[in-house]
Amino acid sequence: MTDDAKPSESMAGVTSQGQKVAAHWARLSLTVDGATRSLRSQGIALEQATAEDLHALDMIHMGGLQATDALAEMAGISGSTTVLDVGSGVGGPARRFADKYGATVWGIELAEPSYQTSVRLTALVGLQDRVQFKHGSALVLPFGDEEFDVVTMAHVAMQIAEKDQLFSECGRVLKPGGMLALHEIFAGMGGPPHFPLAWATEPAMSSLETFAACTTRFAHMELQVGPFMDRSEEGRQFHEANSQARRQDLAQQRSTDGRSVEVTQARLRVAESMARNLREGRLQVGMVVCHKRPK
Ligand SMILES: C[S@@+](CC[C@H](N)C(=O)[O-])C[C@H]1O[C@@H](n2cnc3c(N)ncnc32)[C@H](O)[C@@H]1O
Repeated sequence: MTDDAKPSESMAGVTSQGQKVAAHWARLSLTVDGATRSLRSQGIALEQATAEDLHALDMIHMGGLQATDALAEMAGISGSTTVLDVGSGVGGPARRFADKYGATVWGIELAEPSYQTSVRLTALVGLQDRVQFKHGSALVLPFGDEEFDVVTMAHVAMQIAEKDQLFSECGRVLKPGGMLALHEIFAGMGGPPHFPLAWATEPAMSSLETFAACTTRFAHMELQVGPFMDRSEEGRQFHEANSQARRQDLAQQRSTDGRSVEVTQARLRVAESMARNLREGRLQVGMVVCHKRPK
C-alpha cells in the first residue's frame, strides 16, 4: 500500500471548537493498522479486500451501512452523480457512494488521522480514481461554486456552532437543483443531553439545535426542505446493541477492530449515554433532503 495522503492544503475555518473536535476524533479514529488487523482476523487477504469488507468498521454514524444506503437512495445518488461528503471521517460513506452507486465522490475531513486513514483505505480497495479526500474544514470548503450534484453530511453539524456558515458553504458548492442530504443529530424535547456524547466529552464541543431551528436557517438559503425521516428509535437500538457488543469485548478482553481496551471502555460509556439520551428524548436523529432552487 502506498502512502499517498497529501498534507493539508488549507486549515482555514478551524475554530477552537473545531480543534477540540478534531482532537477527539483523532483519538478515536480507526487506523489502517487496526483495519488491516481486523481484515486478517476475518481471513481476508489485503490484496483482495473490498470496500464492503470495511463497512463494519468505517461507518461512524448510527445505523451504519444501512443508514448510508438509505441516505444515498433518498438523495438519488447514481453513476452520474458528483457527491461531496462533508465530515467524511475514515471515508466509509464516500466509498459506498462510489462502490455501490457508481458516483464520483470527494470527502472533506477535519481530523488529520481520519483523513489519512480515509485516503489509504480507499487505495487499499482500489477506489482512488473515483473517491478523493481533502483535509480541511466544512466552514471554508476548498471547492468552487456549484460543483456538486449532491452534498451529504452524516453526524457532523451537531459539533459545529457556526451553522449558517456551514449550511451556506454546503449550498454554495451545490449546483442549482442539487441536493443537500443530511443524516444528522438534533436537540430533542426531553431536556439537555447527558455527557459523554459520541462527539463530545464536554458541552463546549457540542452545538445541538432542534430540527425546527435548523430548517429556519434553510429558508434564507435557497434550500427547500423535504420530509423529515425520524430515525431516533433506530439510533437507540443501534447504541443498545453497541453497548452489548462492547460489554462482550471487555468481558473477553478483546477488541473487534484492533483498538485498545481503554478505547473500548470509553466507547461503552458513550454508547450507554447515547442510548439513554435517545430513550429520554434528549436527542433526535433523522434524515432530510433539501433541494437547492434551480436558477
Ligand atoms: C461522527 S463522525 C462521522 C464521519 C462520517 N460522516 C461517517 O458517517 O462515517 C463526524 C466527523 O465530522 C468531522 N468534522 C467535525 N467538524 C468538522 C468540520 N468543521 N469540518 C470537517 N469535518 C468535521 C469529524 O472530524 C468526524 O470525523
